[in-house]
Amino acid sequence: MMVRAIVLAAGKGTRMKSARPKVLHELCGRPMLWYVLDALRAAGIDQALVVTNDELDEGVRGAGVPTVVQREQLGTGHAVQVALEALDVQSGGRVLVAYGDMPLVGAEIFRNVLAALDGGGAPSLALVTARMPLPSNFGRIVREGDEVARIVEARDAKPDELTIDEMNAGIYAFDEAALRDAVAHLRNDNAQGEYYLTDAVAHLRAGDRRVTPVVADDGRDVIGINDRVELALARKAMNARLCAHHMMAGVTIVDPDATYLEPELTIGRDTVIYPNTSIGRLSEIGEGCTIGPNARLANAKIGNASEVRESVVIDSTAGANVCIGPFAHLRGETLLADDVRVGNFVELKNAQMAARSKASHLTYLGDASVGEDSNIGAGTITANFDGAKKHRTSIGKNVRIGSNSSIVAPRTIGDGALTGAGAVVTKDVAPDERVAGNPARPLPKKP
Ligand code: UD1
Ligand code: MG
Repeated sequence: MMVRAIVLAAGKGTRMKSARPKVLHELCGRPMLWYVLDALRAAGIDQALVVTNDELDEGVRGAGVPTVVQREQLGTGHAVQVALEALDVQSGGRVLVAYGDMPLVGAEIFRNVLAALDGGGAPSLALVTARMPLPSNFGRIVREGDEVARIVEARDAKPDELTIDEMNAGIYAFDEAALRDAVAHLRNDNAQGEYYLTDAVAHLRAGDRRVTPVVADDGRDVIGINDRVELALARKAMNARLCAHHMMAGVTIVDPDATYLEPELTIGRDTVIYPNTSIGRLSEIGEGCTIGPNARLANAKIGNASEVRESVVIDSTAGANVCIGPFAHLRGETLLADDVRVGNFVELKNAQMAARSKASHLTYLGDASVGEDSNIGAGTITANFDGAKKHRTSIGKNVRIGSNSSIVAPRTIGDGALTGAGAVVTKDVAPDERVAGNPARPLPKKP
């Protein structure tokens, strides 16, 4: 029998004090909701329906996730009711309910709670609990031996109930018929005037059905993010996990507390990452590289044995044994072949540099290509913008561009050509031709 999941994400998230829906706040480069959906997929859940609100719906549906809109946020129980109305009745079905604000929950917890629903005693509900330090805003688990008798929300709890340190994580595996029955009977006579999903427990128990607790190994894995202080705590925990994953796979991270990673990165073994470095947006880094300190890489592909020091590499690719930095900025589909050097204060935008070419100092190459073994002198600028349009510069192989050359695009500079220091190149330069001056003119051929 198929397992269906309902993910609640429609809450107002008032404690975030934000114009953005709570579950779209990011940690380590992904919205918190992304992590929940990713863990559900990893747990083999066939189908997840996200309960959204009007502001959130388009963004979630746009990411290809089925949604149902809860127009008014009348509580977690009401949100489940809205979801169940959108799902056809499956007799004998199982429904996993989770909240969209628990990004640290892994697939194993989902698998465990589903296994408990199918386990001994034929429970109608299995739910995840966790021991947590007090005081806490979590709902409290009131036990009756090995079973859960009811859940009491912190705001409704009596003083002695507030001393309970077993909390409701907010992860439930329900027998579908029991869930449909329970949510139809919820009432909102509580401190928040909401229909609480957690009241389903007392309803099921009153009907003599069993509710099995599954205690999480570590309460820190199930924290719900309700404000930005908790968001920062969760980010730190997620980042530590991501760093540990890569370190266990053979990457040296000098200081995980000062290294900022995202999910879905590839980093080769024996690469060393120095502090104050962030790597994101599906970057792929080869083996034996040196990255950082103070580097930012986003959608960057870096080949083996390359270095990126104190530099920014965005939407760009470098081959093997490339040196970038210190203080370089690569962006806009820049492509560096093997053994290229790009040094201090060099900006590359949509530039292609062929093998062994160099731009070591104070240069801007925009919409430009540079052939093999060419050297771009310090202070060279490709003037690619004429005020209306961008134009390309094409520089051949074995070219020597003199210091402080300005190349006014569109321009082609042939193989083996040379420009003198300070040349302002306003005409194409033929192969092996040497030009100098402002505007640059051909120099006599070498004897
Ligand atoms: C909830 C639980 C609490 C548990 C805690 C774990 C209830 C009543 N309380 O409290 O027992 O310890 O989570 O983190 O369930 N939502 C909707 N529609 C609504 C209201 C909420 O979709 O009308 C969504 C929210 O977007 C959120 C989730 O449900 O993702 C939980 O709501 P939240 O307000 O964060 O509940 P907590 O106070 O954290
Ligand atoms: Mg919450």
